[in-house]
Amino acid sequence: MLDADSIAVLGAGKIGSIIIRALSEKLDGVKVIATGRSYETLQNAAKLGAIAIRENRKAVLESDLIIISVKPFHFPQLLKETGFDVWVDKTVVSVMAGVTLSTLQKALEGAEVYRAMPNLNAYVGRSATAIAENGSGYRKNTVDALFKTLGTTYWVPEEYLDVWTGLAGSGPAFIAEIIDALAMGAVASGLNRELAYKAVLDVLEGTALLLRARSNIHPAQLRDEVATPSGTTIRGLTVLESRGVKAALMELVEQASRRSREIGTEVNERVVKELTFMLQQVEKNK
Ligand SMILES: NC(=O)c1ccc[n+]([C@@H]2O[C@H](COP(=O)([O-])OP(=O)(O)OC[C@H]3O[C@@H](n4cnc5c(N)ncnc54)[C@H](OP(=O)(O)O)[C@@H]3O)[C@@H](O)[C@H]2O)c1
Repeated sequence: MLDADSIAVLGAGKIGSIIIRALSEKLDGVKVIATGRSYETLQNAAKLGAIAIRENRKAVLESDLIIISVKPFHFPQLLKETGFDVWVDKTVVSVMAGVTLSTLQKALEGAEVYRAMPNLNAYVGRSATAIAENGSGYRKNTVDALFKTLGTTYWVPEEYLDVWTGLAGSGPAFIAEIIDALAMGAVASGLNRELAYKAVLDVLEGTALLLRARSNIHPAQLRDEVATPSGTTIRGLTVLESRGVKAALMELVEQASRRSREIGTEVNERVVKELTFMLQQVEKNK
């Protein structure tokens, strides 16, 4: 059950607008307020069903559940605009990569904070979203219900979020590359592009469904069932092995996860430094 009267989405960009669209379509009677900097962003958010405004402070004051979906390096500027005195008793979910729960807790004094990492498949209601909490939250069910409007949710320890970003956050891009490569292989072998593309998507969806339906099997078992001796599949698999494709895919996830960790370190150092400075200014002006 999503017990919120008004939800603010601060930063209605790519992921923010997908969230706005899901909330507007799937929740009745919940007011969605969206913010952005440019006219285009606000216009787009309004088209998706949100009340689109420029004032972040007003959006926070009028909502009890707030999603922060600006880029991490824009977070300090966003705080400058909201002020530091608006967060008490608010529930805040950040989808910003790298900004830790501890940084969020420092910045959003008095708020209950969560981090979520959805992916672009939320557009079709199929995001695999990881959510982390710092243990003090009492609106976990509300946050879960919110992200279930985008797909499946998994509650994880915060330290898993970098790997999640490298695997599931970046995942749609990796899978899109693999789809493109397979389709191009079919075109090189004489199939037209349109048919090749449809076939790859069907194979991909079907294989995922099949593996889910046979929940206890290892993917290698399915591979072995398809690879008949001296047949077409084993010939193809030989190419994968000789070119080190499996090792490359494993390294791809490792590298993407490592990059997420690096970004986290850069972002938190910078955000904490800017926050400390801003809080000192607030104290001075009191
Ligand atoms: N894209 C993904 O697949 C994905 C998935 C999971 C998490 N994330 C995370 O989500 C965040 C946003 O990513 P994105 O890809 O959606 O980026 P994006 O398209 O650039 O969206 C960011 C939005 O924030 C707005 N913004 C910036 N400063 C603002 C301010 N002070 N007040 C109000 N709005 C402000 C921008 O407005 P204007 O357009 O008007 O400049 C822009 O629309 C990032 O932290 C990213 O790590 C992204």
